[in-house]
Amino acid sequence: MPRLAYVNGRFLPLAEASVNIEDRGYQFADGVYEVWAVFDGRLADCEGHFERLERSLGELRIPMPMDRRALAVVLKEAVRRNRVRTGLVYLQVTRGVAARDHAFPAWRVRPSLVITAKSIDWAATQARAGQGIAVITLPENRWGRCDIKSTALLPNVLAKQAAREAGAGEAWFVDELGLVTEGASSNAWIIDQDGAVRTRDLNANILRGITRRSLLDLIAGEGLQLSERPFTVEEAKAAREAFITGAGTLVMPVVRIDGTPLGDGRPGPVATRLRALYVHHAEASAV
Ligand code: PDD
Repeated sequence: MPRLAYVNGRFLPLAEASVNIEDRGYQFADGVYEVWAVFDGRLADCEGHFERLERSLGELRIPMPMDRRALAVVLKEAVRRNRVRTGLVYLQVTRGVAARDHAFPAWRVRPSLVITAKSIDWAATQARAGQGIAVITLPENRWGRCDIKSTALLPNVLAKQAAREAGAGEAWFVDELGLVTEGASSNAWIIDQDGAVRTRDLNANILRGITRRSLLDLIAGEGLQLSERPFTVEEAKAAREAFITGAGTLVMPVVRIDGTPLGDGRPGPVATRLRALYVHHAEASAV
């Protein structure tokens, strides 16, 4: 069965789905995106991702292409038509098509909307979580508005490629103070030597992860010590455990940072427990 993509009102086989070459997303990365994890054909943390989508679009003064309810219908239709049970659904909105000029088009253009969905091999993902991933660290070199989920991802692309070439699954950006900001496509966490679960606070230049937010609630419910406080690479290497969060990886244990194994080099009990808790939450609350 060919995969189908939604492009501006129509579902088309992926090979035929295309946008205009003067789409501002193509020319300037003038657009935003969202990714939902899909469980049993339903969308995890659905409203959180819509809230962030609206906020990202608002910051860039791009109108919502349709309201939340209509968007949810199209997202679910993309999931259904692609027969995704466990996977991801991707949505991208750009400012639209206009003759190339850096400033916004003078007249109102229709935002472009693209949606794709893909299946993920759940058994393989769980096996990966059972092994944990390695992380490398790199100097932060992104723009100052990482709170906007923009499609302009070149530093993230280069960081991820560097991670891959180093045999790692993620790259963590480190700011000029030596503090970890976040991953190329995930938020970064440690369980420090005092047993506190730590992740960067939202005043920092990071994406306000939706998985992060749900997990914070779950951690509070578990009675674990929690601290939205930055950590250095050295603190991370000396931590009891580490993990990353994101719609693509959910909660994924980290077992090595820049080649240094954490603890015994295996996924830690807290990260493993938090993954199970998050998966349960996502499955139970998916709509
Ligand atoms: N990435 N930080 C960055 C830079 C991200 O790109 C992502 C998500 C996150 C985690 O956010 P959330 O928990 O809302 O997924 C943090 C998505 C999955 C992606 O780019 O594919």
